[in-house]
Amino acid sequence: GGSGPLSGRKAIVTSGPTHEPIDPVRYIANRSSGKQGHAIAAALARLGADVTLISGPVTIADPAGVRVVRIERAEEMRDAVLSALPADVAVMVAAVADWRVASTAGNKIKKRPGEAPPSLRLAENPDILKTVGHHASRPRLVIGFAAETENVSENGRAKLEKKGADYILANDVSPETGIMGGDRNRVKLIGRDGTEDWPEMGKDDVAEKLAALIEKKLSAQ
Ligand code: C5P
Repeated sequence: GGSGPLSGRKAIVTSGPTHEPIDPVRYIANRSSGKQGHAIAAALARLGADVTLISGPVTIADPAGVRVVRIERAEEMRDAVLSALPADVAVMVAAVADWRVASTAGNKIKKRPGEAPPSLRLAENPDILKTVGHHASRPRLVIGFAAETENVSENGRAKLEKKGADYILANDVSPETGIMGGDRNRVKLIGRDGTEDWPEMGKDDVAEKLAALIEKKLSAQ
């Protein structure tokens, strides 16, 4: 933590994809770059917060002034988040894999002539945002993202309820938007008291705007 309006406040941010192993050399992943989550961690640190960033495998640099915990799998991310509690605010930005491979192979799965392709049996991963949103040590502010390709507002609002979040930043990640992996974002801020449409802006600007909101909410009584 540094000096600034969020000095003395603890923040947890998740970012990036998770990798779910199939065997020692293969995994299931998604297109998350970590850009938005890392930018939010950096913006909170600039306001003086003590930030723990729990990140899946990404190629971008660690943000300045932030404690970075690197994990691969969703279950590892969940464990790292729970270890980082208590906190004043949690912002779950990671694109956590919904499913993991039910039983990972100890050795590389071999292709054998004449054998049918293997089938992967999947198991549901823990929902980290939902766990934190309903936790006994729930942070005062719990914020999530909702990457959707249709019915963005409706799905975002449903997520707010289901996950016990205070805010959901919903965005349309249809391929034509270029948001996933890109440098710009267009979000709707969905809260208990209504929805705000933010114009398209850089992911750094979304991060600044969200950090300012967090500061305002945490300083209210
Ligand atoms: O349900 P959905 O994956 O669309 O929810 C997105 C939000 O929930 C994001 O904030 C994401 O970081 C969080 N999430 C999570 N753990 C999961 C799945 C999603 O924390 N297993």
